[in-house]
Amino acid sequence: MYTKEIEIALAQLAKQLLSHLQQQQLLQSIDETLDALRRVISYNDWRYYVESEPVISDYEYDQLFAWLKKLEQEHPDLVTSDSPTQRVAQGLTKEFVTVPHLVPMLSLENSYNADDLLDWDRKARESAGLAEIEYCIEPKFDGASISLIYEDDRLTRGATRGDGVAGEDITTNIKQIRSIPLSASFSKYGIHQIEIRGEVLINKNTFKAFNDKRIADNLPPLANPRNAASGSLRMVDPNEVAKRGLEAFLYHMSYHNMNPGKTEPDVLKTHSGTLELLSTLGFRSPAREKKVVKGIQNVIDYVLKFETERDNLPYEIDGMVIKVNDYDLQDRLGMTTHHPRWAIAYKFKARQATSKLRSVEFQVGRTGSITPVAKIDPVPIGGVTVGSISLFNEEVIKEKDLKLGDTVLVERAGDVIPYIVKSVADLRDGSEQEIIFPVRCPVCHDKLVKPETESVWRCTNINCEAQVVERMIHFVSKDAMDIKSFGESNVRKFFSLGLLKDIPGIYELDFEKIGALEGFGKKSLTNLQSAIEQSKTQPLHRLIFGLGIRYVGETTAKTLANAVNHIMDLQNWTEEQILALEDIGPKVAGSIRLFFANNDNIQMLNRLAALGISMTNTKKETHASGNLNGQTFLFTGTLHKLKRSEAEEMVEQEGGKIMSGVSSKLNYLVVGDDAGSKLEKAKKINTIKILSEDDFLAMINK
Ligand code: IVH
Repeated sequence: MYTKEIEIALAQLAKQLLSHLQQQQLLQSIDETLDALRRVISYNDWRYYVESEPVISDYEYDQLFAWLKKLEQEHPDLVTSDSPTQRVAQGLTKEFVTVPHLVPMLSLENSYNADDLLDWDRKARESAGLAEIEYCIEPKFDGASISLIYEDDRLTRGATRGDGVAGEDITTNIKQIRSIPLSASFSKYGIHQIEIRGEVLINKNTFKAFNDKRIADNLPPLANPRNAASGSLRMVDPNEVAKRGLEAFLYHMSYHNMNPGKTEPDVLKTHSGTLELLSTLGFRSPAREKKVVKGIQNVIDYVLKFETERDNLPYEIDGMVIKVNDYDLQDRLGMTTHHPRWAIAYKFKARQATSKLRSVEFQVGRTGSITPVAKIDPVPIGGVTVGSISLFNEEVIKEKDLKLGDTVLVERAGDVIPYIVKSVADLRDGSEQEIIFPVRCPVCHDKLVKPETESVWRCTNINCEAQVVERMIHFVSKDAMDIKSFGESNVRKFFSLGLLKDIPGIYELDFEKIGALEGFGKKSLTNLQSAIEQSKTQPLHRLIFGLGIRYVGETTAKTLANAVNHIMDLQNWTEEQILALEDIGPKVAGSIRLFFANNDNIQMLNRLAALGISMTNTKKETHASGNLNGQTFLFTGTLHKLKRSEAEEMVEQEGGKIMSGVSSKLNYLVVGDDAGSKLEKAKKINTIKILSEDDFLAMINK
């Protein structure tokens, strides 16, 4: 739908709009401006969500979007149903109304191997009286199916599959999916009304990020991208739907009728033509992934090849769908009540299996969290043998009604961690036993605690051996200090042999004793030694992350590292100061404060410093040769010529340091208007020099 020329014109139009916006000027008229904004935004939605190749910055896009919204607010009578602003929904959906599909949504027959496909092809050829059939092959998307209706080019309805005859009207939620156009030029092809089918998905990365966040918030992760997609489609708050990052592939035209006097265009004679048309009209369809071949052997070759690529795709597929390409031939083959005879699914190797739940182990994490881990009879799933599966917390066990001895259905999809889908209660024989959650830590036997608001039980003894070991494993890990060739197994081994007791001990290892251990040749020993040595100069954020402070992930660790010159600065920081940092909330700030208020932790850091581990922000150290080298500053009251942050930056640029409070370590207090208690306190310490803003500027400029 977008030719090169149109794309160039739209890019120019975007520029023109942005410059008009800057001068707060409309184009010729309000109508023209609204139309231009809508066209430019829809085009950029397509570039971003369908093609994954944006051509303007997010900022420019947001500016245009905000302008359109503002103009529409001023002229509510000019709002159109396909305006990009109409994706943004107001209010909650009270209930989803059941709506009939124009044509029932059938299922597909399944096949699992080449023989099944040969059989199916033979029947089709016999029934059609043909020697060879042309097929279109495309991925079988593993998401939630949807059905869309467009009338006179406008999206008028989106529905779930439901029972196949009728589904739920989820139009508002469908509009949150940016790769689904709100209008499409079907009329150009003579089409008046059309029903198209497709699949809503969450791509693997989005899903992983979403689950990482849930795990960080102590919520059990969603089972798999498919469940996440279908759950998202039925959420009552469309704004939440928008946040889920859903995508949609459209792959089937189930119904269409033409405008009076119009005849069907040639593209609508085949399935592959339809996919291309959908793509031309701005939909995401498997137009690129599809393959048209003659004869079943080519089909078999293609699906087997595609299966090996399965894990390289950004989204989950559970097989391929093979469709007779020619619509006339499809009609001749017809359908059963369950599935069409002109299509078949080829299912990839199952990623589900059943097994017996034998026992549950309770593992203690580095923050003391107790995680139940199911031990099952090992089963191969998708090429990997699965024997242990995390159950996350007590709720999950209750929710899934798991019992020892149960037969459980296990799934492992792509890079998704394996999980238990459900227990098969029908197969119980009465010998199954309740899973009993411990009341004491399985390692140190301290009483476990669980705050009302949390779902995780914890051991609060920070000297609990399990926690000590887990903290060390975290410290050496790839994302933290990245001590190569150390790893979990060495931490456990050295700990159990009494060669390693705590984090600083990593830098005090007795290599003679280690060299005497079985499996430690000269080479592995020197590798280990040099990896440990190298880690001493890791950037500060890795050290901070490695300390395993609760709620401090990699991003927060970076924020903290950037905010200080030396890690010990944090010892003097108040909770308010920490809270003032970007993206740090009260829960995180409290936890950081608690960590640095704990004497054991301070002693550990002192030991690490004495062992030569870098504790400074090396980026800032590059300025350490400035005029203010080693001098400490604090600003109080309102400054007039500078912003507080600018002034602090200037001090740091010159090698000075910003203090968080008045103490004998402070050299200069810079006082603005309305200075309060800090000035009073500083006056009492006669080593502190008190400067005005002008004094400070004079000093810096020297
Ligand atoms: S065609 C009448 N094509 O698989 C035939 N279905 O197991 C309509 N699915 O209900 C379906 N990818 O939700 C078709 N490329 C694809 C598909 C696909 C996924 C789903 C669809 C269908 C289910 C059948």
